[in-house]
Amino acid sequence: MLSGKRIALIIGGGIAAFKTPELIRMLRAQGAHITPVLTRAGAEFVTPLTISTLAGEQVHEDLFDLTRETEIGHIQMSRDADLLVVVPATADLMAKMAQGLANDLASTLLLATDKRVLIAPAMNVRMWDHPATQRNIAQLRLDGVLFAGPVDGDMACGEFGPGRMVEPRDIVAAIHAAFDDTTSCEGGARVGPLAGRHIVVTSGPTHEPIDPVRYIANRSSGGQGAALAAALRDLGARVSFITGPAQVPPPSGVTVIPVQTAREMQAAVDQALPADVAIFAAAVADWHVTNATAQKMKKTGDGQMPALEFAENPDILAQIAHRTQMRPPLVIGFAAETENLHANATAKRARKGCDWIIANDVSADTGIMGGTENAVTIIDDAGTERWARMSKADVAEAIALRIAATLNKKEN
Ligand code: C5P
Repeated sequence: MLSGKRIALIIGGGIAAFKTPELIRMLRAQGAHITPVLTRAGAEFVTPLTISTLAGEQVHEDLFDLTRETEIGHIQMSRDADLLVVVPATADLMAKMAQGLANDLASTLLLATDKRVLIAPAMNVRMWDHPATQRNIAQLRLDGVLFAGPVDGDMACGEFGPGRMVEPRDIVAAIHAAFDDTTSCEGGARVGPLAGRHIVVTSGPTHEPIDPVRYIANRSSGGQGAALAAALRDLGARVSFITGPAQVPPPSGVTVIPVQTAREMQAAVDQALPADVAIFAAAVADWHVTNATAQKMKKTGDGQMPALEFAENPDILAQIAHRTQMRPPLVIGFAAETENLHANATAKRARKGCDWIIANDVSADTGIMGGTENAVTIIDDAGTERWARMSKADVAEAIALRIAATLNKKEN
């Protein structure tokens, strides 16, 4: 039953919107309270009158409804709900969500909310398969958005394939799962197999200054680190996310500690201890410039090049793994290799003193560096495990589960 649960139901503009009256009927029969929000495109498929009659509630349609704004406000509306559900989630709505756009009531509610969001996508198979949509899906998963479907099937447009919205009964089941999800953070108390654990994650590149406007960096997007932090959070861990300037934004629900340089990252990791697990997913620059200048370097005009001098950065992973005090019981490093993956990663594990090395091949032809997928090999005391190529979100989830299993085994 969903008695007393308040669901903000956002109805997108797709033919599958015709299933929302049935969904509303089923949810109300289980005791849920529905606040319906109809996008302009959604109103082309179902009428406000149908929706408000079935929901027993006024339909909200426009961000610029001033009466409503003063009465309640869109921020308040998104907070009052226990769950936001988007049915059907069109390619357009998903793109807006992934980008953080807020140019109508629906997208504004989705950006303003601090609650979980469940979407039931529906679109043409080619739109679903398009790289832009696939990028948005990966981003939304990283952001913790829950998905109900889509499934393969016949479409209204006559094609067949993924993109067909799941049936209302499946959406109801997904709503139940979202409320029952014991791995989420409910009422501030974390629950799940990593509840009560503190996990430090480093992520992203570091920027090593040359002068106030120039720096040395690398191509790390921070995608795998952000996905890991989100997956650990979802299993109930308290996550300290120490990140260099990354392209992929940090997930919500973790403590973000932004840093620029390797030395700042090292200080932040030290400060974040003690921890149960430390995961080093950052692509830390190996060197910093020792003669960086306080003023912008100028071209001399006489053909003389700046003579940069370098010193090695601290190896944060090795230092933490070799600590005699406050060493986290599980220290995990990454090895991004372009050749001799297994041999190099095994040697790195020994040199760094970490418990696991998660190795991946980042040669240019794999498209892994900066991409949305990863193919990893895990090397630990027990041996070597090769995982199939999958999304960074799936790799993160599998690693988080492996961590939970390892910690529990250590204690039992
Ligand atoms: O030596 P290499 O850079 O290949 O090692 C990669 C692993 O070590 C990653 O886990 C990375 O986050 C970590 N590392 C670090 N500090 C450095 C260099 C690498 O923590 N200065």
